[in-house]
Amino acid sequence: MKRKLINECTLRFPALSRNESFSRSVAAAFAAQCDPAASDIAAVKIAVSEAVTNAVVHAYRDEEDAGRRIVEMTLRLYSGGFLRIIIKDRGKGIEDIQQAMKPEFTTAPESEERSGLGFTVMSSFMDNVKVRSAKGKGTSVTLEKQLTTYENEQ
Ligand SMILES: Nc1ncnc2c1ncn2[C@@H]1O[C@H](COP(=O)(O)OP(=O)(O)OP(=O)(O)O)[C@@H](O)[C@H]1O
Ligand SMILES: [Mg+2]
Repeated sequence: MKRKLINECTLRFPALSRNESFSRSVAAAFAAQCDPAASDIAAVKIAVSEAVTNAVVHAYRDEEDAGRRIVEMTLRLYSGGFLRIIIKDRGKGIEDIQQAMKPEFTTAPESEERSGLGFTVMSSFMDNVKVRSAKGKGTSVTLEKQLTTYENEQ
């Protein structure tokens, strides 16, 4: 069955840590329109936070021009409460996606205390996580979740 697009929204913002909480609140508000379970909203917030944090802390490490450090989040809601969120940056990209997605893999300096668990967390809270990336061109993370809505319970 083909899903019908019901609503969509795109948000562009600078890769600043203050936008981690802002973007996860926007995603939660967007998901809330189909009245999902509270646990679904919590899951969306956690996954979006991890993906946006990655764009903020990793994507633009080598980018000196602050004007180019941009993150774009697209939210799409389909019939039946299927949610797709795409978080995109135009940063340095990921050389080996499979390796990056392994638990405890991190390229962050030890001083940063990153645990390399961001992708693992995203995968455990969402139904599907797809990563596309090209070196020097950027990364796009697609998060998908079937929300448990009142509509689905009929
Ligand atoms: N948007 C991105 N641009 C460039 N590299 C990325 C991006 N997202 C993730 N990575 C790479 O993938 C690795 C794994 O990401 P992951 O979120 O799993 O762990 P982490 O960010 O290193 O640590 P944690 O999320 O636990 O703080 C990162 O260390 C980084 O090398
Ligand atoms: Mg991370």
